[in-house]
Amino acid sequence: MSKDKVQIFDTTLRDGEQVPGCKLDAEQKLVIAERLDELGVDIIEAGFPISSPGDFKSVAEISDLVKNASVCGLTRAVKKDIEVAAEALKTAKKPRIHTGIGTSDSHIKYKFNSTREEIIERAISAVSYAKTFVEDVEFYAEDAGRTDNEFLARVCEAVVKAGATVLNIPDTTGYCLPEEYGAKIKYLKENVKGIHKATLSCHCHNDLGLATANSIAGVINGARQIECTINGIGERAGNTSLEEVVMIMRQHPSLNLDTNINSKLLYDTSRMVSEKMGMIVQPNKAIVGANAFAHSSGIHQDGVIKNRETYEIIDPADVGVNESSIVLTARSGRAALAYRAKIVGYELTKVQLDHAYQEFLKFADLHKEITDEDIPKIMEAANLDL
Ligand code: KIV
Ligand code: ZN
Repeated sequence: MSKDKVQIFDTTLRDGEQVPGCKLDAEQKLVIAERLDELGVDIIEAGFPISSPGDFKSVAEISDLVKNASVCGLTRAVKKDIEVAAEALKTAKKPRIHTGIGTSDSHIKYKFNSTREEIIERAISAVSYAKTFVEDVEFYAEDAGRTDNEFLARVCEAVVKAGATVLNIPDTTGYCLPEEYGAKIKYLKENVKGIHKATLSCHCHNDLGLATANSIAGVINGARQIECTINGIGERAGNTSLEEVVMIMRQHPSLNLDTNINSKLLYDTSRMVSEKMGMIVQPNKAIVGANAFAHSSGIHQDGVIKNRETYEIIDPADVGVNESSIVLTARSGRAALAYRAKIVGYELTKVQLDHAYQEFLKFADLHKEITDEDIPKIMEAANLDL
């Protein structure tokens, strides 16, 4: 049975770039956009064209460059924003305008000093106006995570009627629990008239470390687009991480969901974005962290050396990592020492390994990690200058 496709909407260049101190220049944005297209993302959110002349120029240049993905520009529910976005996107092969407005009571009261009825009117006007420029119009209900479901359904119904092709349901503040977010998507799927004409989209922030779990709960309940960033970068605690959601769907066939992503490019893309943004990837980051396929304790190393699947659920080659690594530390056992020593050129008998291991432990107690360069010193100390 063929799997259902989940569209990957990458917002590294818009929401991701909102990380304090991580501004990308125009050239860097183009290089990243080209790589995202190659990676297989379905939509690239290239920027917020009205926000600055630089952002406008980048969205226009990316529109020119990108061959396969849709190119999207963000706007508020404001006419001028929409006109400027349409202008920036005019050479895109597949342009999308992403417009919207806050729908939670707190946004309505404090940001807009408005009413629910007025918000619906503004949402309809924005979508209808965007439709005069492009066919593909995505609507975001900002702070949908904290918006009452009944009102959210009314907003969604109104904008679908006005022509919205995608309904973005952002958990802007990263507040929802996975059950709650999943139930919200299910509620909209079941209660918005005309919902079959639009795609529901998950846009989750990571304030409680739940962005990935919430996005997966969303697609399990009927959403068919996930908005995410490379390495999960984004404001505050970041956005849903692209590599995580892609690999969750790939590693769990029972979900019956997949994406168009070429996962073999994930690791390289992660390094590229990290380097260009000057933002390190935490070593224990799932899928792309430096330690994601590194084994350091004796029991695990012994297992992985016998068969990788004992402690790895992903083949590192599937995400573009050459191989799992066996890191020598004071917790490593004889199997790991023999394995690394062999790579460096020492084929040890059982007795030689016993000697070497005693010296290794003394050395390891004094060092955090033992590199291949340290192995000859250990052999020498064990009188095994083979
Ligand atoms: O988090 C959010 O609500 C957003 C919208 C502007 C789409 O980024
Ligand atoms: Zn966001």
